[in-house]
This record gives sequence, structure tokens and C-alpha cells, in this order.
Amino acid sequence: MTNQVLDRGLVLDAVRVTEAAAIAAWRLVGRGDEMAADQAAVDAMRTALNEIDIDGEIVIGEGERDEAPMLYIGEKVGRGGKLKIDIALDPLEGTTLTAKAMPNALAVMAWAPKGTLLHAPDTYMDKIACGPGYPAGVIDLDRTPAENVQTLADAKGVTPDQITVCVLDRPRHAEIIGSLREIGARVHLIGDGDIAGVINTADPATGIDLYLGSGGAPEGVLACAALKCVGGQFQGRLLFRNPDERARAQRLGVTDFDKKYDLHEMVQADAIFAATGVTSGALLDGVRLEAGFVHTHTLVMNSATHTVREVRMKRPA
Ligand code: FBP
Repeated sequence: MTNQVLDRGLVLDAVRVTEAAAIAAWRLVGRGDEMAADQAAVDAMRTALNEIDIDGEIVIGEGERDEAPMLYIGEKVGRGGKLKIDIALDPLEGTTLTAKAMPNALAVMAWAPKGTLLHAPDTYMDKIACGPGYPAGVIDLDRTPAENVQTLADAKGVTPDQITVCVLDRPRHAEIIGSLREIGARVHLIGDGDIAGVINTADPATGIDLYLGSGGAPEGVLACAALKCVGGQFQGRLLFRNPDERARAQRLGVTDFDKKYDLHEMVQADAIFAATGVTSGALLDGVRLEAGFVHTHTLVMNSATHTVREVRMKRPA
């Protein structure tokens, strides 16, 4: 872990970037075109990033250079300057949610000092997360779902039937869901959007205590940046479906394919995290057009100061 801290003035710059991506994607909400919505968010995010005085490098982006024309891993963004920054982004987290006008789509980004974000490949990752206030090690990826529910319930001073676990609704999670229900836990299934799923564990108002299951590794890094700001625990392990995915990981510097990463290995210094709602959800309100003005709702957090802000912006549409 390093002591590098980003200038707090960057917080508002980060907000402008996710706002721009969210507004661009919102124009395509409900139009049934995932790619167009994603592309609009990517274009807007890139334009906004290039207006900021940073020497930024995308470390979590839209893919490798040969497959993503913009915001690819390794792309330099910003107007330059002394501030050297690692950027993790997901211009549209919830492409399907956006195309189908369903809740919880977000534009998301995290900034950290250069060299301090895990360069996660675009593969799956096994994830477990809980919110703040628990002893270190209360959750562990190497325990069974039932064991994790039990240790969390013990630490919370409740029985397992009072623990709610958020899981992506996928056939691959059938076994996890079965064992969670067997121990009596409530299972909160989400269609997409595990960055919000993880963040929700840190907000008692959501009622979610634990996040479990596999999702995108890039989303894991973004979720860790958020948890670093609000507290909580996270562990992740990369999952590889074929030799090509291992090769991708290797290209990004991964040497131990079975490594269990914790939050502070994924985000090694203080980070700024920003997310703007595209469609409304538990975390944020979506973009809204009212009386000729476009309204946005953004969550922006700085782990250096543990500051959590909600920013509401309105401007002529
Ligand atoms: P997209 O916005 O790229 O569609 O990602 C949505 C998402 O639900 C992520 O939050 C999650 O990590 C991942 O997809 C899960 O992947 P899959 O849909 O293949 O299970």
C-alpha cells in the first residue's frame, strides 16, 4: 500500500466525466441497442477526460487495444500535466439494463495514483464483499457460502435468516443460491450490475449484508475503489475459461493465476470513485429531463478523506 493521495480538487472533475457518460447513454435508454448506448457513453467519457489537466492512463477500460477503438487499456487521456493517474472505467455499467430501460444502470469511474490499480484482465472474477464494521477476515472466498453467512451472522449478532446476500441472477450461481437458501439466508437477485451490488453491502438502508458470486474482473476493481472509500471487505480471484484469457492476464502482468486478491491489493492507494445514475436504482437516481433541463445524480467519494458526496446537477438539455 502506498501513501500517494490524489488532489481533492479532482473530485469535481471526476463527477463531470461520469455525468457526461450517463447523459449520453440516457439518450439511448429503452431503445434496445446495447452497443449504441455503450458507444455513446464511451465517446462522451473520453471527450470529458480529454478536457482535464491530468496525465491519465486507462488501466481498466473497454478492452485491449486491438478490440476497443477508444478507452482501451493503455490509452492515454487528459491534457497532460504533472498528475499521473491510473484510470478504471466502465462508461456504461448495465448495457442491457439501459437498452431495456431497466433500473440500476450507471456510468462509473475510479482514479488512483499511477501504478496503484490492479490491471485486471477482462475475465470473470469470483467475488465476495461485505460492508464496514466487521472484524478483518469475517468473509473469505475459500469458505463455503453457508460458512460465510454463518460467520457474518455471528459477527452481526443475528441468525443466518437475517442475512441478505446479493447475487447476480445467472444459471452458474444455482449452487450458491441453493446453499444460501438452505442455511436460511435471503437471496437478493440482480439481473446485472455487480458494482452497485457490492457497494450496496456498505449501505445499511439497502438491507444487503453480503455480495457473492462471479462477475467481471474489471467491475471488481471499480467496486473495490468504492469500498475503499466507505469501508468494507472484498476478496476476488480471477477465473479463466480458456488459454486466451490466461494469456490476457499474463500480458497485464498477472503471474499467479490462483491468487486471492483483497481490496487493498486491487486498489493500492487512495482513490476517487464516481458513479452517475443512467436509470434509477437503489444507489442513484437516473438521468431525468424536466422543463428543458437535464438532471443527474452522482455519488462521488474520496478514500483519502472518506468523503462521500451526492451531487445533483441540472443544466439546459
Ligand atoms: P455490462 O454493462 O458490460 O453488460 O456488464 C453488466 C454486468 O452485469 C456486470 O455488472 C457484471 O460484472 C457482469 O455483467 C457479469 O457478466 P455476465 O453477464 O456475463 O454474467
